Amino acid sequence: MNATPTFPPRTPRPLGTTQRQDRWWLEPLLNFIGFTTFVGYSLWVTFSPTGPHGLNYEWPHRPGPGWTYLSPFYSPLFGPTWWHFSPAILVLWMPLGFRATCYYYRKMYYRTYFADPPACAVSDTKFWQRKPRSYQGETAFPWILQNAHRWFLYFAIYVLAVLWIDAFQSIFFRAPAGQPGLHFGLGSAVLLVNAALLSAYTFGCHALRHLVGGSVDCWSCSRIGRARHKVWQVVSRFNEHHMLWAWVSMICVGLSDLYIRLLAMNDVPLTRFPWL
Ligand code: FES
Repeated sequence: MNATPTFPPRTPRPLGTTQRQDRWWLEPLLNFIGFTTFVGYSLWVTFSPTGPHGLNYEWPHRPGPGWTYLSPFYSPLFGPTWWHFSPAILVLWMPLGFRATCYYYRKMYYRTYFADPPACAVSDTKFWQRKPRSYQGETAFPWILQNAHRWFLYFAIYVLAVLWIDAFQSIFFRAPAGQPGLHFGLGSAVLLVNAALLSAYTFGCHALRHLVGGSVDCWSCSRIGRARHKVWQVVSRFNEHHMLWAWVSMICVGLSDLYIRLLAMNDVPLTRFPWL
């Protein structure tokens, strides 16, 4: 006769109890400092678009044709005429939703902000388990909303395409007849690097990897299987270092905005590469 196994009740342990001897707290601490700084900066950038020299999220600010550096927080730049708030608010939900539902960021903020658990083999806060057996993880509200990640991926790809266009438009532009429509400055390089790092982050997305390679048991038997396999391999290469791309792309977005903002406020001189 099979007896149902019984387990002794778990003894609650204070938060942070562990037998680990390493500095397990260092990663959550650095995550907290880095991510909180970025979120604070993003909120400030989003809600304070104007400065003493006019619009400081793009430089130079001009109505006509010409090269322009546009902060990635404000791209794609749009807003109906009745919208009197920061245009960044209309854009922010796309990259924010993408990052907030990203598999890596979920792990990071569950650990860093909810300490649930703060690290492997370290006792947690029981934050979501105050009522025994009520914890349903990401299968119930609110965390089931994390499943929207694939939809945010589509929006993120759209934003990424616009960022590449912004970067190239800061180099190539329509100029009056007889003048070269070419400019290459430090800002152009910054925008190109920013788009490249965001591409590495976006194209390493777990949801994208599943989209291109999921539900395939046999590459050679499936429709366009060889092409899918090649794309899946590329996505997998980026996916291997998804955490790294998440951080460097996030920092680069902040630094790109900072550089354009300092230019617009006349706090740094324009650096233009002399051969162009
Ligand atoms: Fe991180 Fe999709 S899992 S961006």
